[in-house]
Amino acid sequence: MTAPVIRFRGVGLTYPGPPPVTALHPADLTVAPGEYLTVVGPSGSGKSSLLNVAGLLDRPTEGGYELDGIDVGALRESARTALRGRRIGFVFQSFHLLPYRTATENVALAQLYAAVPRRRRLAAARDALDRVGLAHRRDALPITLSGGERQRVAIARALVHEPSLLLCDEPTGNLDSATAGTVLDLLDALHAAGITLVVITHDPAVAARGARTVTIRDGVLSDD
Ligand SMILES: Nc1ncnc2c1ncn2[C@@H]1O[C@H](COP(=O)(O)OP(=O)(O)OP(=O)(O)O)[C@@H](O)[C@H]1O
Ligand SMILES: [Mg+2]
Repeated sequence: MTAPVIRFRGVGLTYPGPPPVTALHPADLTVAPGEYLTVVGPSGSGKSSLLNVAGLLDRPTEGGYELDGIDVGALRESARTALRGRRIGFVFQSFHLLPYRTATENVALAQLYAAVPRRRRLAAARDALDRVGLAHRRDALPITLSGGERQRVAIARALVHEPSLLLCDEPTGNLDSATAGTVLDLLDALHAAGITLVVITHDPAVAARGARTVTIRDGVLSDD
């Protein structure tokens, strides 16, 4: 049997402060390969904190975390960074695209640290843009793209390393509902293609797109 993509054992996160803030009370959470999990909760409930721990951006202050069967608590920062680069793709509410770079360049830049030659980076970027339905906009600058198209570029950038886990923090938060629908349809298609997805949202309609939803309230995680 393959290891879960995410296994939290009593993972908790308290920001030191002062005053200390427990953003995540110790919780167990398992996400299997190919799962589509949504995490729903109100503002300030700990959703981004959970995502930051899952994405190796923050270390938990309690408990153990295995990513793809690897005990990441035991790893040094450099090894965590390398693992994050290979296995995890991030998508954020506010796209984070470089304004003076084309869609292709934005996606290609995500591989700068991977020591891949430029021609291969550009080819991989074009493939990723193709995958999100933006082959025809590959030379466009972000300012000329719609919000939904920008988010699809950001998703292409997250996919270009072929991560085992795609973490999305309010991916439709800046989009109107029709545009949000196209982005959510894309996430459905990626899920159908076998990608493991964790999507964080405060919107119950977005949460309902996942195959499984967990709720977080005041830092307390509960499986629905
Ligand atoms: N770096 C930090 N230092 C101290 N407290 C923090 C820090 N980051 C977040 N918090 C606190 O931790 C709690 C959870 O924050 P978090 O950002 O995870 O919430 P969220 O559910 O993502 O909210 P939103 O929906 O508004 O993005 C909040 O009380 C927040 O104020
Ligand atoms: Mg947040």
